[in-house]
Amino acid sequence: MKRQLHLNLFIQSRGHHEASWRHPKASPLPLTDIRYVQEMAARAEEGLFDSIFLADQLALGEDVARAGRNWLEPLTVLGALAVSTNKIGLIATASTTYSEPYNLARQFASLDHMSGGRVGWNIVTSWSVPAARNYGDAGQVSHADRYARAEEYLQLAKGLWDGWADDAIVDDRESGLYARPDRICPVNHEGAYYKVAGPLNIPRGPQGRPVLVQAGSSDTGRRFAARHAEAVFTAHMEKATAQAFYKDLKALVVEEGRSPDQALILPGLSPVIAGTEAEARKLATEMNDLADPEVGRKRLSGRFGGYDFSHLPLDKPLSPEDFPDPATVEAARSRTEVIVGVVRREKPTLRELLSKLAGARGHFVFAGTPEQLADLIEEWFTEGVADGFNLMPPVLPEMLNVFIEQVVPLLQRRGLFRTAYDGETLRDHFGLTRPENQYWPAGRAAE
Ligand SMILES: Cc1cc2nc3c(=O)[nH]c(=O)nc-3n(C[C@H](O)[C@H](O)[C@H](O)COP(=O)(O)O)c2cc1C
Repeated sequence: MKRQLHLNLFIQSRGHHEASWRHPKASPLPLTDIRYVQEMAARAEEGLFDSIFLADQLALGEDVARAGRNWLEPLTVLGALAVSTNKIGLIATASTTYSEPYNLARQFASLDHMSGGRVGWNIVTSWSVPAARNYGDAGQVSHADRYARAEEYLQLAKGLWDGWADDAIVDDRESGLYARPDRICPVNHEGAYYKVAGPLNIPRGPQGRPVLVQAGSSDTGRRFAARHAEAVFTAHMEKATAQAFYKDLKALVVEEGRSPDQALILPGLSPVIAGTEAEARKLATEMNDLADPEVGRKRLSGRFGGYDFSHLPLDKPLSPEDFPDPATVEAARSRTEVIVGVVRREKPTLRELLSKLAGARGHFVFAGTPEQLADLIEEWFTEGVADGFNLMPPVLPEMLNVFIEQVVPLLQRRGLFRTAYDGETLRDHFGLTRPENQYWPAGRAAE
């Protein structure tokens, strides 16, 4: 089958630009209004996107005075989207460090049933220091410890979802047999972090397990992705690092004994699109002018685990020595590597760096015409840089609409993107196989 481009819409605030919430073309709806997310998901479904995605942080941002964010809890939102959409995949973030496996496995199984098999889980270990304080941790759980816990969590969650054979429910009113207990089994898990008997109190979902998505990019994060992830979000500010990441991760996936096409790599892409390149650049500058450098400074500090940047003047060129060594950062380690890499190469002032990050927090920002964007997408897709993109429109719905009306048709004409959905589940859209049940492998028929 011909390889197809995959598109995910990342819905965040009123767009991904730091100042999107106050942009005149952004949605007028309150960020607590479910209709806002429903409208964005419906629009992405009209554009035949594979999926939408909701991120999550488990603490209030310190920049609340001057930054609007998503407020609604993502799994609750997926419940509403499961019934307001029909085809599009629905991916929500949930933390392995701060949620109980039994609860989360149940919630995802429920959502998979409710959506007819369209659910994905963005597995995060939660890097934010303020989040740790909301869950009884005096200090932050270390990077290594978070991933060790996540590893056990995944093994356990997969066991819980597999605890039901697909034919466990009989529901035969005539004979009076509702379910076959011999086709349901406990997980009896006892590990370093969790002790769970099981079985789960909900049958296996249409997809068997939700699609597992991951976005860790450190060495440990990549190993984890190679073992478990079926789709990988990743942030790069230039093609060369995105390409190196793609090559490295696909090789790790193969080392883990998996097929490389069963782990899609979707780098972030934040496009500013206009009739001419000059116009697009002007739009991007206008947006950056709306951003507040002090919001940027706080966000930068958060990424580096609370490191104090308040002494740095805004207009003096930066050097890597102004930052802690990324290898020592317990927070968003790989993103700090991206940021220090930019400083090393380009020596921007703090104001310039913050303006670069304001566009999409260290993801790839593009400004140009629809043709130029289609060229870039085609190039990354065919040259081993990406299997698709995590689209991060700077302003919603404005730039999503432009993308759907002017870029999607170009991609379709080039034979890169679907012209209709040809499957029902998120696994169908992503071209992923349904995972075999570890307790009842295919071929082991009901006795
Ligand atoms: C597109 C994208 C979305 C992410 N969403 C979240 C999120 O919602 N919540 C969160 O705690 N971390 C999120 N992360 C952070 C990652 O889970 C991870 O912690 C980060 O990339 C650092 O990777 P590392 O821990 O392997 O160094 C996201 C990362 C990317 C690239």
